[in-house]
Amino acid sequence: MTATGKPLPLAPHGPDFGNPLASSQLIPLFSPFKLGPVMLPNRIVMAPMTRCTATEGVPGEGVANYYRRRAENGVGLIISEGIGVDHAAALGTGTLGETNLPVLHGARAFTRWKEIVDQVHAGGGRIFAQLWHQGPVRMPGTGPHPDALSCRPSGRWGPLCGNTSASAQYLAAVRVQTPPMTESDIADVIAAYGRTAANARSAGFDGLAIHGAHGYLIDSFFWAATNARNDAWGGSLRARTRFACEVIKEVRRVGGGLPIAFRFSQWKLQNYEARLVDSPTSLEALLCPLAEAGVDLFDASTRQFHLPAFTGSVRTLAGWAKHLTGIATMAVGGVGFSHELKESFAGDVLAADNAKVAAQAIECGEFDLIGIGRALLADPAWVGKLRTGALLPNFRTSMFTEANQDL
Ligand SMILES: Cc1cc2nc3c(=O)[nH]c(=O)nc-3n(C[C@H](O)[C@H](O)[C@H](O)COP(=O)(O)O)c2cc1C
Repeated sequence: MTATGKPLPLAPHGPDFGNPLASSQLIPLFSPFKLGPVMLPNRIVMAPMTRCTATEGVPGEGVANYYRRRAENGVGLIISEGIGVDHAAALGTGTLGETNLPVLHGARAFTRWKEIVDQVHAGGGRIFAQLWHQGPVRMPGTGPHPDALSCRPSGRWGPLCGNTSASAQYLAAVRVQTPPMTESDIADVIAAYGRTAANARSAGFDGLAIHGAHGYLIDSFFWAATNARNDAWGGSLRARTRFACEVIKEVRRVGGGLPIAFRFSQWKLQNYEARLVDSPTSLEALLCPLAEAGVDLFDASTRQFHLPAFTGSVRTLAGWAKHLTGIATMAVGGVGFSHELKESFAGDVLAADNAKVAAQAIECGEFDLIGIGRALLADPAWVGKLRTGALLPNFRTSMFTEANQDL
């Protein structure tokens, strides 16, 4: 929302990239921000992006340089790609066929992540580890422990008629009902988050980012379509936050004061149109328990950051999270491009001059930080180019995998 109460306007892409005025409108993006003990030099955050480079859970050799280049080129904070927590069913093939995903346990993976963190620091940057458990999204029979049952609160993957990019082969494999998680399964997973958070702290990460979005495990406890439990882990929205709260508390317990970011979303990989909550009151019921459990930053994952979250108000999802909880928030989705993430799967998208809309929202206090995904895949020097008004890159669909070869 703007100070005048009007929706955030989207500028057309293109013509004024070279205009020196563009950089003065961007000034709010380049102001520092203190997140707990971590001082960020600007408001630009590299969003978590899975790169599929790992061998037996160990990130590829080029990954340290990949993150270092973004740090050297002015990204204020990097959130790592999703890192599987230390649990047998944390990782497997995902909706888009992702494999070769990293972990942070075992000497080789730990050492590689330590190298990555050291390189980011040497490049002048800061990096949080994204802690990830795929839960119901993990394709059964895949990943490092194919025999492990995928973790699902109620044995369901999700509604089978949702708008998803998943392949027919994937859908056939996941639609089978499985046994719901038991009390001891739940306790094991919470402990796994704690072990991985402790490893992240030892490896020197500057903060911990919990993936609670997109239909993965934590989100599947929030979502009524995947959580039909009638015990203390299900029922009301408040009860459905319990699992996330226990994870947050465990991560906080071992985190040694590192700041905790928590990503949540309305949309799910099982259904892009899904909605967890339909009103600010429900959003408050979702977020306030998480805030009390120890979140320092809410990362409101949307596909288009500027859109109103609910009818009747122009406030964005990140804006509501900040308004309702008083906690710092990050918006994400669509900065730098004419089309959102899911449309990039179907074809190339053009650069868009919309970062100034995010800058304006930060200036108005709507949210505090802005996440940048595809633009930082397309160009490690994107932040500098934005700042100086240089031509910004378009996003080619091939960049999803191209960057794996040329990190
Ligand atoms: C290649 C790729 C991998 C992604 N992997 C993750 C991930 O590991 N964890 C996550 O929370 N989001 C992931 N995302 C979503 C991004 O963090 C971001 O929210 C999304 O791309 C929207 O931002 P954008 O429009 O700036 O690209 C991924 C996105 C892309 C493009």
